[in-house]
Amino acid sequence: MATLAEPQTDFTRLPDMDESVFTAPLKRPDHVGEDWLEPKQTEYDSEDDAIWNDLFARQMQVLPGRAATAFMHGLEKLDLGKGGVPDFGELSENLNKLTGWSVVPVPMLIPDHVFFWHLANRRFPAGNFIRTRETFDYIQEPDVFHDVFGHVPMLTDPTYADYMAEYGKAGWKAMRYNRLKALGSLYWYTVEFGLLQEKDEIRAYGAGILSGPTEVVYATEAESPNRIMLNVDRVMRTDYVISDLQPTYFVIESFEDLFRQTVERDFDKLYRNLGPGFTYANTAVIDIDYVVNRGTLEYTLRGGRGSGAAPV
Ligand SMILES: [Fe+2]
Repeated sequence: MATLAEPQTDFTRLPDMDESVFTAPLKRPDHVGEDWLEPKQTEYDSEDDAIWNDLFARQMQVLPGRAATAFMHGLEKLDLGKGGVPDFGELSENLNKLTGWSVVPVPMLIPDHVFFWHLANRRFPAGNFIRTRETFDYIQEPDVFHDVFGHVPMLTDPTYADYMAEYGKAGWKAMRYNRLKALGSLYWYTVEFGLLQEKDEIRAYGAGILSGPTEVVYATEAESPNRIMLNVDRVMRTDYVISDLQPTYFVIESFEDLFRQTVERDFDKLYRNLGPGFTYANTAVIDIDYVVNRGTLEYTLRGGRGSGAAPV
């Protein structure tokens, strides 16, 4: 039986989580309810829309031939390039017809158990704000461009859409086992930085890769990073970097493969065997790995982003 999530859980309402599962409890802003949803999407001005359009145009210079076909189809199906920041209501209507998902506006950060709850109910929480010209090239917090452009097109793929909902259902269980770091690593190496073997090519499907211009090229073509076939046990034991290009990416054969590897396995056993910390460094290649490319790690060894090293 699939045990990524606890089968008896009622996902229609938020659980009572014991305080001890929160490392840093967030203070709920006065204007949001228990669900942490913003009353409505921000109203964007013409400069905000122009920033969206420029970011969109920049990505379209690098994505064809590097982004997963499912992602490119998703952009088209949702008409995300029609100009300006997309309206979440319209987007949700279109997405709902395809896979039952919607997009909902949230403050910048929401608690983990609320995030999981929205995913389990096929609602993708997206940040309202859009970056400025000053932070055009790099922002640490995900904005509406990262969340909508990066994540939402993949939700038009039925198998991927199911994976995301199952991931949400898995969250509360990981919290109760105190294995949120491990589940977070799975999210990081799939939803944010996942690569896909498509025919003979490596393509990107992770939103962290697809929403910026540099990592798209680096992740799919550079010699520095390791590219290793996804193994869920291994990935959940692997550390990652938050504010730089990844030294290692994990590659899936297909979205069906991703779904099978995660949803159809015994997570109780896995969680019992995992330690609370990570076992493997993010640069490690270990003997059980099925390696697609062993990277030179040149970019990382030269010091990464802060050093001015070229992403080669
Ligand atoms: Fe993201």
